Amino acid sequence: LLRPPVPRPLAGKRVLITAGPTHEPIDPVRYIANRSSGKQGFAIAAAAQAAGAEVILVSGPVDLDDPDGVTVKHVESARQMLEHVQASLPVDIAIFAAAVADWRVANEGEQKLKKTSAGMPPLQLVENPDILATISKLIGKRPPLVIGFAAETEHLIDNAKSKLQRKGCDWIVANDVSPATGVMGGDRNTVHLISRKNGEIAVDSWPVMTKEQVATELIAHVVKSVADKSL
Ligand code: CTP
Ligand code: CA
Repeated sequence: LLRPPVPRPLAGKRVLITAGPTHEPIDPVRYIANRSSGKQGFAIAAAAQAAGAEVILVSGPVDLDDPDGVTVKHVESARQMLEHVQASLPVDIAIFAAAVADWRVANEGEQKLKKTSAGMPPLQLVENPDILATISKLIGKRPPLVIGFAAETEHLIDNAKSKLQRKGCDWIVANDVSPATGVMGGDRNTVHLISRKNGEIAVDSWPVMTKEQVATELIAHVVKSVADKSL
């Protein structure tokens, strides 16, 4: 007996995804990081692959297995992540789920910093490049669909709407990461999909779901958009 054909609605599409935290070195043995597990980005990569896409996942340091059938590039810092993202273009869809460190240490120590009688060594921070904004504002190689995330602990929808405008992406997946939700590092996510519809900003609030369910739902929206706009 023949099996029914597996639907592969994203066949022929290249999808780029960032995931995980970044590590910003202080010296050869220390770094600045955050609580991102990478689970949401990895789940999106698996869902896009299951939908038939060619998937490139650029991930910061995580404790997760590479998803089957996905090309994974492992990086440490925000600047390395940007470099690999740029090298992966052109793509049809770019989804920026990484919790990129906003700052890196400007005066990174070449050797391990030592305790001295002079007290604590001052760390000078400089802002990292904004990968999502950089790619959203590209001329020529801008992917036709650019999706960002907004992790907020307060004023979720308002902050996410202004991020959509400021960064120039097409959609924002807004998620509440206040400590009580247990989202950072946890298995569930409460998200709102913020997009532009006829010049207005539309907010679509989803029920609490597992990160796999959020990934499946997000990819379903991508599939619909690809079909509607024939991306
Ligand atoms: N992002 C990025 N590069 C950065 C910072 C953020 O690509 N240097 C992306 C994230 O992957 C996410 C989106 O931008 O898709 C929003 O990240 P977020 O940290 O919520 O926004 P910021 O602009 O960094 O603002 P803030 O942290 O001050 O809220
Ligand atoms: Ca940030």
